[in-house]
Amino acid sequence: KKYNVAVVGATGLVGQTFLKVLKERNFPIDNLYLYASARSAGKKVEFDGKEYEIIELNDDNIRDDIHIALFSAGGGTSKEYGPKFAAKNAVVVDNSSAWRMDKNVPLIVPEANPEAAADHSGIIANPNCSTIQVIPVLKVLDELYGLKRVIYSTYQAVAGSGQKGIDDLEANLRGEDSKGYPHKIAFNLIPHIDTFLDNGYTKEEIKMVEETRKILGLPDLKVTATCVRVPVRMGHAVSVNVELEKPFDLKEVTEAFAKKEGVIVKDDVKNNVYPMPLEAAGKDEVFVGRIRRDDSVENGLNLWVVADNIRKGAATNAVQIAEELIKREIV
Ligand code: A2P
Repeated sequence: KKYNVAVVGATGLVGQTFLKVLKERNFPIDNLYLYASARSAGKKVEFDGKEYEIIELNDDNIRDDIHIALFSAGGGTSKEYGPKFAAKNAVVVDNSSAWRMDKNVPLIVPEANPEAAADHSGIIANPNCSTIQVIPVLKVLDELYGLKRVIYSTYQAVAGSGQKGIDDLEANLRGEDSKGYPHKIAFNLIPHIDTFLDNGYTKEEIKMVEETRKILGLPDLKVTATCVRVPVRMGHAVSVNVELEKPFDLKEVTEAFAKKEGVIVKDDVKNNVYPMPLEAAGKDEVFVGRIRRDDSVENGLNLWVVADNIRKGAATNAVQIAEELIKREIV
């Protein structure tokens, strides 16, 4: 069976990667509809050797034969058009933060909670990029030992800000100022991703806290985060400090990660082997290394987790959710 698939935000960094990943995974597409803003209407985009004309996203152009709609065109667009596509019987997989914490919207990382897809009411949310990449690893630990507390420190690439993030880094390297970031990002670190809230945290940090709890089904889990933009082009890294409920064996932890689908262990420090953004870029898996005991607390563990933030952190995870919809006969 084949499906009619729409990509909303098809000209963007994530939108273009949706197309790459759909092709690579041989997604069963019947008709493909590519939407973007009026700015791109009529522009031609290639997919699988065929040319497609970009459709302007507006109320008159929402087709009623779409089975799956992959959205990555900003939160405002998802808020407005997600329900309109769903009303026409499409299942929307939305990469924005607009719907993630809505009670009626499943928030899914297929390595942790694919079964949640069954409860959708037309919209399924793809989690925040930094959250997605730590979940497969945390799921393994939760199943084996139980999670007590998690501390995230992130090192996030400029690609997470879309094409304009990459443009700023390159402009800075030529000596120009940033247009999007509030400071220069080249040769710098900016501890500020998304907007600040009254409690002193950024929205990005709170997303990691709330989304982790929702995906793992642990509403009371103690979690905290510090999110930092770094002058890396592609690939987020997260230092994850975990307190487990039960004692663990390091070898057993490493073996369990190695067995987990979608996770690759890179941990051979004697040979300088550990996950790095330059190596993770372009890959669909989550890489974990620097696996070591934290002796400052009981049952403490330190990990270093790296993934391509546009692939596993966005496009690949969304396409995997779409594959679950097909596998579970939800579309
Ligand atoms: P467009 O190229 O026409 O502006 P990125 O995350 O790389 O910045 O990409 C954002 C994507 O979202 C682009 O495909 C962009 O289309 C699309 N987009 C932004 N605003 C809208 C809108 N109001 N309606 C439809 N698509 C939009």
